[in-house]
Amino acid sequence: MLLSDNNTKNAAPAGRIDYESEIKRLRKEMNAVILAHYYVDDDIQEIADYVGDSLELARRAAQTDADVIVFCGVRFMAEGARILNPKKLVLVPDMKAGCSLEDSCPPDEFAKFKQQHPDHTVVTYINCSARIKAMSDIIVTSSNAEAIIGQLPQDAKIIFAPDKYLGAYLNKKTGRNMLLWNGTCMVHENFSEQELIKLKTRHPQAHVIAHPECPETLLRHAGHVGSTSSLINFSEAHPGKEFIVLTEPGILHEMKKRSPGSVFYDVPGLSEGGACVSCNNCPHMKLNSIEKIYYCMKNKSPVLDLPPELIEQAKKPLERMLEMSKNIGRK
Ligand code: 13P
Ligand code: SF4
Repeated sequence: MLLSDNNTKNAAPAGRIDYESEIKRLRKEMNAVILAHYYVDDDIQEIADYVGDSLELARRAAQTDADVIVFCGVRFMAEGARILNPKKLVLVPDMKAGCSLEDSCPPDEFAKFKQQHPDHTVVTYINCSARIKAMSDIIVTSSNAEAIIGQLPQDAKIIFAPDKYLGAYLNKKTGRNMLLWNGTCMVHENFSEQELIKLKTRHPQAHVIAHPECPETLLRHAGHVGSTSSLINFSEAHPGKEFIVLTEPGILHEMKKRSPGSVFYDVPGLSEGGACVSCNNCPHMKLNSIEKIYYCMKNKSPVLDLPPELIEQAKKPLERMLEMSKNIGRK
């Protein structure tokens, strides 16, 4: 099991620590809340106080009265928690957990692009750095993007960044012609269409469900497209069925819990030599582990922090998102 450098210093010999019990003890002692995304490992989802999609996790982070937020997801999500609730201490199990969409949108290049289109509203997918958020007018997630864009004037000129596939999907859904930044998710663009077709042939009754970060070549096979929560809700609403799932396979844990009578198939991603099952895992989400959660709570490190001016600037478009999507995704 890999431990990040700054978390190895107090490591006890393997097998001596009951990590789950210790995490529960520390959670109480520190008045901490553990938030986790659906893509992290099953054991982390089980110990978390709340598991959700990006929108739900942002809401929880904004509303929590815990003193400490332990964020088990990727860095941009933890940054969102820090921005929306700057008085809280935000801990992350591994600071290296980034996101390829964030990497595909360097702030200096984006600033130039924005300058070239001064009359455009900047709508940005939450999967981006705090600096990109600070340059945006409104942030969206895959749960609320369609509804938020729908609230903008029909003739509004819009830049959408950083996910070109989500942007293309939203252009189609909303009838807009948003200018798209050329970013992609390394997991969703990598599913093998050939393997998907094989699965469809083997399981002709299965519903194909997909996250909108997938390219159109994959989305055209899907009967339902939506955020992680939306995919889980769809499978729950169709009990006892088969599903071919085009998103990160960590989601299958919650799907199986909610629908024990259903069958779920994940789609292999492509490696250099062909299809490979682990290539559909998000390498960033998978940096989280139970051991690292324990050490980050015990050491109160690594702490996710941001400069106060950046928090101020990035907060406005995030709060605008929460305001414009108040009723979305609430049961
Ligand atoms: P959701 O907001 O749908 O959970 O998506 C987050 C994400 O990173 C997808 O790759
Ligand atoms: Fe980023 Fe893709 Fe991983 Fe989601 S699955 S966190 S978009 S790299």
